[in-house]
Amino acid sequence: MCGIIGYTGEKQAAPILIKGLSSLEYRGYDSTGLAVIDHKHSPYVLKAAGKLSNLKDSIGNKIPDGKIGLGHTRWATHGTPNKTNAHPHTDCTDDIIVVHNGIVENYLEIKKELIDKGHIFQSETDSECIPHLIEEYIKENNSFEAALTSTAKRLQGANAVVLISNNKPAQIAAFRIGYAGGIVIGYGENEMFLASDLAAILPHTRKVAYLSGNEIAFVSPEGPYYIELEGNPIKKSPSIVNYDPLSAAKGEFKHFMLKEIHEQPESMMNTFRGRVKFDRKAVELETLPYSDEEISEIERIVLIGMGTSLHAAMVGRIWIESLAGIPAEIDNSSEFRYREPILGPNTLVISVCQSGETADTLAAMSEASNKGAKQITLCNYPGTQTSRIAESTIQIRAGVEIGVAATKTFTNSLSNLYILALYLGFKRGNITQSYFQKAIEELAHVPAMIGSLVANQGQYVKLAQKYARYSNFLYLGRGINFPLAMEGALKLKEISYIHAEGYPAGEMKHGPISLIDENMPVVSLIPQDNLYEKMLSNISEVKARGGKIIAIATEGDQEVNAKTDNSLFIPKVSNLINPLLMAIPMQLIAYHMGVYRGCDVDQPRNLAKSVTVE
Ligand code: G6P
Repeated sequence: MCGIIGYTGEKQAAPILIKGLSSLEYRGYDSTGLAVIDHKHSPYVLKAAGKLSNLKDSIGNKIPDGKIGLGHTRWATHGTPNKTNAHPHTDCTDDIIVVHNGIVENYLEIKKELIDKGHIFQSETDSECIPHLIEEYIKENNSFEAALTSTAKRLQGANAVVLISNNKPAQIAAFRIGYAGGIVIGYGENEMFLASDLAAILPHTRKVAYLSGNEIAFVSPEGPYYIELEGNPIKKSPSIVNYDPLSAAKGEFKHFMLKEIHEQPESMMNTFRGRVKFDRKAVELETLPYSDEEISEIERIVLIGMGTSLHAAMVGRIWIESLAGIPAEIDNSSEFRYREPILGPNTLVISVCQSGETADTLAAMSEASNKGAKQITLCNYPGTQTSRIAESTIQIRAGVEIGVAATKTFTNSLSNLYILALYLGFKRGNITQSYFQKAIEELAHVPAMIGSLVANQGQYVKLAQKYARYSNFLYLGRGINFPLAMEGALKLKEISYIHAEGYPAGEMKHGPISLIDENMPVVSLIPQDNLYEKMLSNISEVKARGGKIIAIATEGDQEVNAKTDNSLFIPKVSNLINPLLMAIPMQLIAYHMGVYRGCDVDQPRNLAKSVTVE
């Protein structure tokens, strides 16, 4: 949450900051701001409520001079999303200029203390106490460096802070404490970049280093130096980012979300590349650090995640139990971290976290590490914080996803969990070679099937015209399609602001059925699988009570077609891989409903792509 970009070098900073902010806006869009220093004048600080376009309008043609600067796009935690609360924030003398991501948990206490010492605050934010605290430590005869270490030690919570000082020509400083959003430092030729994530840095350089928790960076055009909180120097070598982010341009598509939905056949092929050997019908997971013996010793698997990643993990649990024969559990990371989970060396924790930054998942993973569990994480970006905690990372290789609602990262998380479950099942002798090989053969056809589903959009446009005026939806599924019902409902909520709930169809009679009337469309996930007959009965019960049914069924299913108000079809596949296809109608229903209702589908209100606060 919150996007940060910093530049110091030989070029004008403002255009670089604005370009960087446009690639970070998906992290939050409550307000934006930037600051540049040219050392002839006072710092130039400009802020605007709302999206980046408002900031650009206020700048107009008057691009401020200055070769060092910071930019910020905000997802509000403390203080309403207005111009005053926008970052950057400054101290009383406008010397220290700060952008921040995270929550300063003890800010009220710090703020009170600083107000008692005469500091005047402009905003309602927790962030503003940071520049004032630095100012105060400098006043107490501390060096700039010492003031930063004292400030970092004083702040509680998970925080990433980037700042410039009018008295430090050309130097950007940054520190991280706890598991707040990451800070990436990009190394250019006589120029350096800092950002909350790679997307803003990669257009300039592929040479990067990552700041870990409790580290401070001082970055000038000639290069950076790093210290830890006690002031001791740290050596950090930059690495080269080899992966190619897909173009962040929308191209022919009206929205990033639609573009990313269309990219799924290709992103799934990318994830199979090198892992699934379709010619030999084998799976190779080279990054998995466990011997066959260790795999056979796994007694239990716990899958964790948040949002859409939690739904992928829910499907993963079913695959692991069915294919690998290992008892598996699922938990929401934010719940897992606060109970006393029982874990040991023979428990494997699998976290799904496309961003690699979700605060609750990071905390849950750290809990698992402390308890000595084995850990694998699924992530879409290299070098993330989750990758540093887990023993091994499965890169899901979906390419950059800009739309705030996850689409291709969901299907790529699913396909990797499926491959992993097959692999574990085969290694443990739970599935036969012929089952394993048939499964791989079938997987080879899935990207093309997804391609045919995304090509067929007209029916979703018509569906939106008919149903977008309804205020409530139910999504029903059973077995492996229940998590997909949850995901369909989540997507609809996020994108179109229509209230929707996903239920296991068997639960209907225990409450939700009382909601059914002609104003409650029910999206029923009813492929021809082992639970088909049960789902048929459930939709008859809805129909008998006047409910409208939109069915997602298997191609050619005349019975469902006759029983429902609208039917959408997915190709016939074996039971276990239905979710890989079912995901597509879930995304397209939400997308077209959102577009029909005039919603901002790429940047839905109040949401952010990476949730780096609890
Ligand atoms: C936010 C995003 C969702 C995402 C969830 C988990 O809520 O808006 O699209 O599914 O975070 O993100 P993660 O990075 O942990 O997969």
